Amino acid sequence: MCGIIGAISYRNIVGILLDGLRRLQYRGYDSSGLAVMDLTGELIRLRRLGGVQNLINAVENTVLSGSIGIAHTRWATHGKPAEINAHPHISFDISIVHNGIIENYQSIYRQLKVWGYTCLSETDTEVVAHLVHWEGQKGGSLLEVVQRVLPCLRGTYGMVILDSRMPDRLIAARSGSPLVIGCGIDENFIGSDPIALLPMTRRLIYLEEGDVAQITSSSIMIFDRSGNSVHRCEITSNIQHDAGNKGAYNHYMQKEIYEQPRVIKKRLKGHLRNNKINFPELGSENEILLKNLQHIQIVACGTSYNAGMVAKYWFESFIQVPCDVDIASEFRYRQPVVRHNSFLITLSQSGETADTLAALRLSKKMSYLGSLAICNVPSSSLVRESDLVLMTQAGSEIGVASTKSFTTQLTVLLMLLAKISYLKGMKPEIEKSIVDALKVLPYRINQMLLQNELMVDLAKDFIHKENVLFLGRGAQYPIAMEGALKLKEISYIHAEAYAAGELKHGPLALIDNNMPVIVIAPDNKLLEKIKSNIEEVRARGGLLYVFTNAQFGCSNIERMRIISLPYVEDITTPISYIVPLQLLSYHIALLKGNNVDQPRNLAKSVTVE
Ligand code: F6R
Repeated sequence: MCGIIGAISYRNIVGILLDGLRRLQYRGYDSSGLAVMDLTGELIRLRRLGGVQNLINAVENTVLSGSIGIAHTRWATHGKPAEINAHPHISFDISIVHNGIIENYQSIYRQLKVWGYTCLSETDTEVVAHLVHWEGQKGGSLLEVVQRVLPCLRGTYGMVILDSRMPDRLIAARSGSPLVIGCGIDENFIGSDPIALLPMTRRLIYLEEGDVAQITSSSIMIFDRSGNSVHRCEITSNIQHDAGNKGAYNHYMQKEIYEQPRVIKKRLKGHLRNNKINFPELGSENEILLKNLQHIQIVACGTSYNAGMVAKYWFESFIQVPCDVDIASEFRYRQPVVRHNSFLITLSQSGETADTLAALRLSKKMSYLGSLAICNVPSSSLVRESDLVLMTQAGSEIGVASTKSFTTQLTVLLMLLAKISYLKGMKPEIEKSIVDALKVLPYRINQMLLQNELMVDLAKDFIHKENVLFLGRGAQYPIAMEGALKLKEISYIHAEAYAAGELKHGPLALIDNNMPVIVIAPDNKLLEKIKSNIEEVRARGGLLYVFTNAQFGCSNIERMRIISLPYVEDITTPISYIVPLQLLSYHIALLKGNNVDQPRNLAKSVTVE
């Protein structure tokens, strides 16, 4: 995680660094800092605890100006959020910003101590600055010194190094954490994400794994892991980034919840024709892969994992294709067995989630038919490294809690389901029912958004609660999981989701008259089953909130509140039913006075393992 930007130019780059950090804040917002060679040739470092605005305020109180510098916004891994742990870290003339984790930092630190170095921070990064300084004393250019140091490091890094004795160059190194060079005219830039660079240039060069680059204002030299000079293609990015604008909304999360009907409608446009799903972006030559698959392995993390869980119910019940869903961090270490003709699908909003990427890379050494990424960021590593790609096209998602990326992932998964059904020659009614449901989905979500006032009212019941249970059955069980995840990450209320049938196998012991239980109970073939689970909770004095479009014969009875929701088509119920739960979490967090868009301890993109 964390965000990096570096710049070398003929003009003052302080504003460029600060604006870059502001754009990168979604990667971490515990603390931030910059190091700039000022006009007198002195290296000035400023660091502040908290969001980037604190650093901006600190810079405003100075007359800092310079044409080479590096900057960083941090999500703490090693060492608590504190100014002393904020980057850049410095060892004499060497300054460094780093994303990733240096796993062997303790053994390096022990060696550095013997050599007389003292580490001031608790981070795994500071040792690299000292190591570069130590190695530099043996001679060679900064590039050569860094190339000698890198083999001593174990773990992951995207790092940029500045030596104040050679203020005409930056050295960047990538292994496991992305870096992209922005090419200008008489100026060049480096960042962990293109969105930091887009205001200056759209000409981008992505570093590959193991690459080391020397960047001056007029030249870029790139070397691979073995030290050979290599050419990496320059691309012209067409990424649109609308991060700066919340429009009429109070928070990005609120804006993103309300954008859902529009982005889903946009995603569907041109793809539903004559009761068929068209996916020209997959390429007809790849359709054979989808036709032949006999098993689907989904790998993802967090909210994306929950979307994968919904898809499992869909793939198995509608087209009888067995589907397994794994949390990426488990998949990569559990030595999974590849089923016959299995196809790998990764789901990710950012496309930079370290565990999901590692799982994809691992899968390439296994016998999967191929890989498909369902992703929201076109320039991401996941998109670049997958065989096939379907973009969710949700637009920038800035709120840390995923909302529209979840519903657009589900929309794309449903489109894929219809496509595979067609390719496998299954009954046309399956594809038709999916197409029919998708056509009205934006309208159905709009109807759900009209429940906002109801959620505002309901939120009051939860603000003093410490625990909440979510129950669902079938494809609504993952929606219970996603509802619980939304609640805990922004309201800090402990929430757990259970498949409702599991209640009596343990969690029922938690029920007392203070325990709210949210039940997702749409009118479907499992309704009678879930009604029995509701009775089990009622009999033990639990406090029930039932989200349903079914008739319960009453609106509210003692200790049971019925949240009457509009009708939705059975197959798209999971997509529609998450919307009121997103709104509920949003309003609870708001009432609690929490930072809705940047909840504590989290970051939008989890680029460390
Ligand atoms: C929760 C949330 C996270 C992400 C997870 C995976 O609201 O946003 O759980 O879903 O970190 O991120 P992506 O989808 O970018 O791989």
